[in-house]
Amino acid sequence: MTDIILEAQQLRKAFGGLVAVNDVGLQVERGSMHSIIGPNGAGKTTLFNLLSGNLRPTSGRLLYNGRDITNLPLHKRAHVGIGRSFQITNVFNNLTVYENVRLAAQALDGASMVVFTRYDRFSSYEAKALEAIETVGLRGLENVPATVLPHGNKRKLELAIILASDPELLLLDEPTAGMATEQVPELMQTISDIRAIGNKTIMLVEHNMSVVMSVSSKITVMNYGAVLAEGTPEEIAANVTVQSAYLGDLYGDFDEMSKGH
Ligand SMILES: Nc1ncnc2c1ncn2[C@@H]1O[C@H](COP(=O)(O)OP(=O)(O)OP(=O)(O)O)[C@@H](O)[C@H]1O
Ligand SMILES: [Mg+2]
Repeated sequence: MTDIILEAQQLRKAFGGLVAVNDVGLQVERGSMHSIIGPNGAGKTTLFNLLSGNLRPTSGRLLYNGRDITNLPLHKRAHVGIGRSFQITNVFNNLTVYENVRLAAQALDGASMVVFTRYDRFSSYEAKALEAIETVGLRGLENVPATVLPHGNKRKLELAIILASDPELLLLDEPTAGMATEQVPELMQTISDIRAIGNKTIMLVEHNMSVVMSVSSKITVMNYGAVLAEGTPEEIAANVTVQSAYLGDLYGDFDEMSKGH
């Protein structure tokens, strides 16, 4: 039996007359790298906003580890284990790398920690923050203000910020956006490491098809808010509907890649 960490059932989000997410059904396997692809405006970010609790669905259900979280508010989702990044960089520029990550580690603290002494509590934030910084490969840059980080390192910092809250499931919306092409493999390696070392489940929105094809265990293709296709990278590359619908036109590198299969 497959182990499903997150399941969306008939998930829908309408903005007035525009149906941005159209009755999407989705099962995300624990430990997988599950990518969502599709053209601009397909509803990928809106779907992530529904999964993270930033938006409430118009209808449908969302199950996390079998529990109905459809109406669970945003601040509680982080506590159940869902962490997310945004399509736009989300870092406090005037704080250092360490301060940014440490704040994130501390932000999740709740009543559960009151049994610890002050010292225990602070050292546990510190340990979590340093571990996250280490995992993303920013060791040595702890005291650098975020504002002076090059774009690639800022994206790593965002990953560390998410990791500091120790999520089981990470929602990454275009983590390579705006990065120089030569920096992309390193960031993707970091993301793969996070998944492997930390035993995490990762959902990824990504426009770079060669990245998607090489890292994903499963791919869901969205078009006009709905699921157009779902499968392994090989199945998606071979899917005639997906190809003729838009992938061949949308992604220049797609034709060449699918010839390899
Ligand atoms: N808050 C909002 N209010 C009204 N319409 C919205 C809102 N957010 C998104 N939309 C619309 O919903 C549709 C889906 O947008 P969404 O941002 O989810 O697409 P996307 O797949 O993430 O696109 P991209 O690849 O450009 O990031 C678009 O038509 C968009 O204009
Ligand atoms: Mg988007």
